[in-house]
Amino acid sequence: MKKHKIMTVVGARPQFIKAAPLSITLSQTPDCEEVMVHTGQHYDALLSDIFFKELDLPQPKYNLETGSGRAVAQMANILTKLDAIIEIEKPDMVVVFGDTNSTAAAAIVAAKNHIPLAHVEAGLREWNKSVPEEINKLLTDAVTDIYFCPTKTGVLNLKNAGIRKNVYLTGDIGIDLLANNQAKYTQIDIFKKLDIQPHEYYFMTCHRAANTDNPDRLKQILEVASHIDMPIIFTIHPRTQSRIETFGYSHFLEKKTLKVINPLGFWDTQALIHHSKRVLTDSGGVVKEAYFHKVPCVIMDTQIEWIEAIEEGWAQLTGANTDAIVQAVHSFDTPSASSNFLGDGKAAGRIVKVILDFLKKKK
Ligand code: UD1
Repeated sequence: MKKHKIMTVVGARPQFIKAAPLSITLSQTPDCEEVMVHTGQHYDALLSDIFFKELDLPQPKYNLETGSGRAVAQMANILTKLDAIIEIEKPDMVVVFGDTNSTAAAAIVAAKNHIPLAHVEAGLREWNKSVPEEINKLLTDAVTDIYFCPTKTGVLNLKNAGIRKNVYLTGDIGIDLLANNQAKYTQIDIFKKLDIQPHEYYFMTCHRAANTDNPDRLKQILEVASHIDMPIIFTIHPRTQSRIETFGYSHFLEKKTLKVINPLGFWDTQALIHHSKRVLTDSGGVVKEAYFHKVPCVIMDTQIEWIEAIEEGWAQLTGANTDAIVQAVHSFDTPSASSNFLGDGKAAGRIVKVILDFLKKKK
């Protein structure tokens, strides 16, 4: 019997994390064949290769080598290169993840070629079109055929937009890896390397364009380390590093309370989040992970798609404002309960079952 050919398209760090559980499940499904395409949006070993090794991802059959650049050029590059590959491969379905430029570009290519499109992490909104990811969310969901929503909010957003067909609440696939590999994030090897003690530091990330590309906001974030009562471990994204150099902010990184390190692999990152006193971030993925690990999270942004974390008191929005961030870090009351709104860590199985049913009906 001919296998169903599923093309998965990844390109940036958060997508490798979401694709890994799906790839594992697809590899255990005899009537499916996965063809993975890497757009090359992320190309540095620390943002890409390390995840393929750590998470046992399959070697992509194609790498489009898109690289960095302005969003439209990046997407145009993906559109033309992926279109040519789709013509050769003729997949039965294309699966995209999340909300990066790679997601939206691949969605458009699938739709224009009339290939059924599944969107993992569908339905989320930040209600602010100045956020690049919001545009990607809207573009992708506009042409999606099967919507895999991580949360009830995702389902509701789609319903309010008149989308009810082929909408599935699966739970968040980012949680699959965490729910099933506890030993990998409770390990403390990274603490010896960094010479720090569990629960005696804050963990910080910052990479959203709204913060990194605005000199005042970036400065406000970097100044937090001068007013805080414990060391901050700051894993620095290349984009942030480059803006710090451009704006002449390198002296901020020399503060004793700020321990600046290169981007880490998935499990070391999870170990640092799991054992941290507070998380400070502008990354949606890290907000979710902090919630999973039951660590209070200060969101250095003005909106977020994971609103349940805020409603339940596990996260606070402060914007990129030094005083508000410091105040939130020092005064955070840790809630006593959590609804586990991200699901049970079994999203990949549900997604593959729906995909199979859809493709069987189509034949
Ligand atoms: C992208 C996604 C974002 C996601 C993030 C995860 C979009 C709009 N944004 O943001 O949603 O949360 O990935 O990290 O798609 N760079 C390198 N090496 C790399 C890749 C990037 O040095 O391998 C630097 C370059 O200076 C580049 C900059 O980072 O210009 C931004 O890269 P880009 O892929 O455009 O966006 P991210 O900020 O990584």
